[in-house]
Amino acid sequence: MRVSKIEMEGVFSHEDTTVDFPERGLVLVTGRNGSGKTTLIEAVALCLWGTTFRKRNPGWSGDKGRVVVQANDHKIERVKTKSKVKTTFDDKTSFTRVRDALEHTTTLFGSFDIWRRINVFSSRDVARFTTATDAFRKRMLEELLGLDRFEVASTACREDKKCVIREYTAATYGLDQAQSELQTAEARLKDAEISLDEEEPENVEALEDSYSIVEGKIARTAVALRSINRARKEADKAVWEADQAIAHAEKHERLLEGGTCSSCGQKITEKMTRSARVDVAKARATATGARKVAKEHREATEEQYENLKATKHKLTQKHYGLHSRVESAKAATRRQENREERRKKIAEDVIDFTDTVAECEQDEEKTRKELETLEVVDRVLSTQGVRAHLLANALSAIEAVANSWLGRVAAIDETELVLKLSSYAERGDGSLKDAIGLEIEGAGNGHGYEAASSGEQRRIDVALMLALAEMAEAAHGVESGTLFFDEVFDALDEEGVEAVRDVIASLAEDRCVLLITHNDQIKTQLKGLLTEHWHVEEGEIKYA
Ligand SMILES: Nc1ncnc2c1ncn2[C@@H]1O[C@H](COP(=O)(O)OP(=O)(O)OP(=O)(O)O)[C@@H](O)[C@H]1O
Ligand SMILES: [Mg+2]
Repeated sequence: MRVSKIEMEGVFSHEDTTVDFPERGLVLVTGRNGSGKTTLIEAVALCLWGTTFRKRNPGWSGDKGRVVVQANDHKIERVKTKSKVKTTFDDKTSFTRVRDALEHTTTLFGSFDIWRRINVFSSRDVARFTTATDAFRKRMLEELLGLDRFEVASTACREDKKCVIREYTAATYGLDQAQSELQTAEARLKDAEISLDEEEPENVEALEDSYSIVEGKIARTAVALRSINRARKEADKAVWEADQAIAHAEKHERLLEGGTCSSCGQKITEKMTRSARVDVAKARATATGARKVAKEHREATEEQYENLKATKHKLTQKHYGLHSRVESAKAATRRQENREERRKKIAEDVIDFTDTVAECEQDEEKTRKELETLEVVDRVLSTQGVRAHLLANALSAIEAVANSWLGRVAAIDETELVLKLSSYAERGDGSLKDAIGLEIEGAGNGHGYEAASSGEQRRIDVALMLALAEMAEAAHGVESGTLFFDEVFDALDEEGVEAVRDVIASLAEDRCVLLITHNDQIKTQLKGLLTEHWHVEEGEIKYA
């Protein structure tokens, strides 16, 4: 972040201060302890992120205060009144809630922590990386290099994975269910098809035709029976009439035997008797002939009658038989229709279940592919994946850059200091600790950073912080911003000051570097390198 102007009213010791930063060059800021030098850095933190290096919830010097920072072509103003703090941005948006303002600033300038580590080198902070624990060092470095973004993505990916695993389990279960339902339906369809062959109903129409034919025959037989019956009766009548005629002739014959007429009492003559006897004999012969014919006729009709009766009986039996066959054929046809109906329904079920299985297979395949993708992404994002690879690359780059800075700031007669960063420290049991180890060869008489002198430590710290800042700038795509070096010389001897000074002066070639120190003597060592010199006295800046 390039700072171009700071205005402060009631910001700690600064009652009313305005400073313009040159675009590039080295600015020396001197002043006594507590005069308000570091406040220049605090003002930026306070205005943009509502925090300071010393306190998270800073108090202003009074009830009222105002700080304005112009940076990266933006102007941000934070005004404190008795009851609230209001932050206004140059796009006219303003916030009274600290969190909202912070969100806006972070979008414009990134996080406070990143700025602090890329742009500010204070005696408080400079040893943060070297003295940090291995695990904290890793976190810090990941954040500086923007690798912590992988954590967000990795967490989101793991969350997604959990959801997709749930979806996949549900899809597999759904597929199993659908497949077993399909199998059951297919088995039912087979049974239904078999049951269709189990019974073959008789043809109802053909049976009904035979039934009507028999019915017709019965009717005709009945008519014939009736006419034969009539003929029988007529034959009976003819026999009876012939018998009557014979009886009449016999009666007439008996009367003749008495010799007198029973009605008139007249004597019957021989002649009359002979003639009457001839008549009687004729009548008897005629009657006997008629009776014989009638009897024969009666016998003939009787046989026909019996035959017809038997035929009718047989036909009626057949009729009954056909009737019940028609009924059972109808019932069997209904049963068959029901079976066919059931088979059709099951066949539809089979089609439906086949569709469901296909859908479930698609679901299962889709979620399986999603899961496979997420597993790959998870592996890539995990600490063992791309992230580890990037970190390892970044570490060797930082190591190389830090060693080159170290070469520049190290004392000439000193044993060569070599900084080594190891991405994974080995544990006692041989397992790997997911942390970043730091070793300094040649320092502290071979006993490392802890054993080194304060001056050596400061040089190592500065070299490492410069390398980190450089890498972080590159990782965040930040162009060289304003650098603040606050009391970095305090532990260095004259030679060390010169070495670090040269490094800082080279950094000031393409940006503004503020070099804050309470040590006025440094001014002489910076002769010819300074662009401006600000002297702070009781919260006021004097341009020397
Ligand atoms: N964050 C803060 N919270 C409270 N007070 C602060 C804060 N920052 C600065 N001050 C106060 O403002 C005054 C100036 O502090 P500052 O740190 O700017 O001094 P300095 O000039 O850097 O001194 P030194 O040479 O000791 O570092 C001091 O009285 C200090 O207590
Ligand atoms: Mg200070």
